[in-house]
Amino acid sequence: MEKQRENWGSKFGFILAAAGSAVGLGNIWKFPYIAGENGGAAFILVYLISILMIGIPIFISELIIGRKSQLNVVGAYKKLSNNSPFWSIVGYMGIFTAFVILSYYNIVAGWSLGYFFEAIKGTFNEFTTVELASNYFSNQTSNTFWIISWQFLFIALSVYVVFSGVRKGIEKYSKLLMPILLVILISLAVWGISLKGSSAGLTFLFKPDWGSINGRVILIALGHAFFTLSLGMGAIITYGSYFRKDENILTSALWVVFLDTFIAIVAGIAIFTSVFSMGFNPAEGPGLIFNVLPTVFNKMPGGNIFGTLFFLLLFIAALTSAISLLEVITSYFVDQKKHSRHWVVLVAAFVTFLVGIPSAMSFGLLKDFQFFQKNFFDIMDFLSANILLPGGGLLIAIFIGWKFGYRKSMGALESGSEGWLQANIFFAIVGKKVPAKKLSIGNIWFVFVKYVAPILIALVFLKSIGVI
Ligand code: TRP
Repeated sequence: MEKQRENWGSKFGFILAAAGSAVGLGNIWKFPYIAGENGGAAFILVYLISILMIGIPIFISELIIGRKSQLNVVGAYKKLSNNSPFWSIVGYMGIFTAFVILSYYNIVAGWSLGYFFEAIKGTFNEFTTVELASNYFSNQTSNTFWIISWQFLFIALSVYVVFSGVRKGIEKYSKLLMPILLVILISLAVWGISLKGSSAGLTFLFKPDWGSINGRVILIALGHAFFTLSLGMGAIITYGSYFRKDENILTSALWVVFLDTFIAIVAGIAIFTSVFSMGFNPAEGPGLIFNVLPTVFNKMPGGNIFGTLFFLLLFIAALTSAISLLEVITSYFVDQKKHSRHWVVLVAAFVTFLVGIPSAMSFGLLKDFQFFQKNFFDIMDFLSANILLPGGGLLIAIFIGWKFGYRKSMGALESGSEGWLQANIFFAIVGKKVPAKKLSIGNIWFVFVKYVAPILIALVFLKSIGVI
């Protein structure tokens, strides 16, 4: 008898674990700075449209692939495609992408941990100007020893969680940490809104200036939709493989997407209200929250406490995401190669540590090692978020829409969400019965996966390279 696969203790446990994966540095570090660089509200709208039209349908598709196969990303594609070599390669690409993302993700996560201790020590008391804070940040990030030590500690903490398995590790810590994250973030946002002059930040977030939109900006917004939902490389396939057959995929997916989007917007509010009320520049780049925010905290009564909480929040968000990336690699070696979980976690984590070293040095020793004006760290970020994830997402949509097909996909989605799929979408929205059966929620989802999402992703790729 094959051993029964481990599964989530409850639907709520899954939602928090998957939201833990989705809510990460993407929401709190990356979203504000790329929104700041690419024009604010107009960028955010393109991102929200990508989430709705592409993110949600693909999120559901990944859950189906995982739950149906009960396997890691490589095993899942192999099993559901009857060992097609092409789809196996797509699975391996997912493992590769996990290493690429972790190589720089662990670095920023390490900075957060480092800044958490700086905040406790009261270092922000010295940051009377953004210049002082930026100088300090450049000093720290060019200090290879400082970065690598924090990177190492952060990886050790993710190992600790993944080591204990799905229910006793990932689910347990997500249930503990996600509520703490929510409370800290909402308090920071309320505090931000209460500042004098905070409305300029809200205007920046919610009033679109369409002039800032072009092909490159659309690709960044689409790529971010994938990144922030942990889509396009098999993290949700892996988490879906621990999802029980009698639970509802549709509503769970909607919950996770809602939480992730909500948290990104609240983080945007917390950050831009304070940045604008102090008159700082929103387009500061990757250093935004490390340069500008500590200066903001410096000027605030109680700033050391808020600063400490903020970097704690960032660390928690990063941890529950990094573990999902590590789990993608772990489950592959455990399922396919039959290695012991503990051994795999240690080796995989050590390899992610090594591949992270060039990113760690990108702000110091390897600063001048540039390619198209991007350092190694930027290249890893660009390659994963703007190429591998949307590309992987395109393939997932094609797999469900064209290879796995309508009948099998519906069958797989149905278990646990009976009634929901047949429900008419207008009925669901306005509560009135409309006879058109074709417009059921299930059918609309499928049209999005089969046609809308792949076409939109392809168009965005073409537009970003200037073909259209
Ligand atoms: N979603 C996380 C964030 O926003 C990052 C992340 C975790 C991720 N797992 C992933 C991104 C899988 C892509 C794929 O920070």
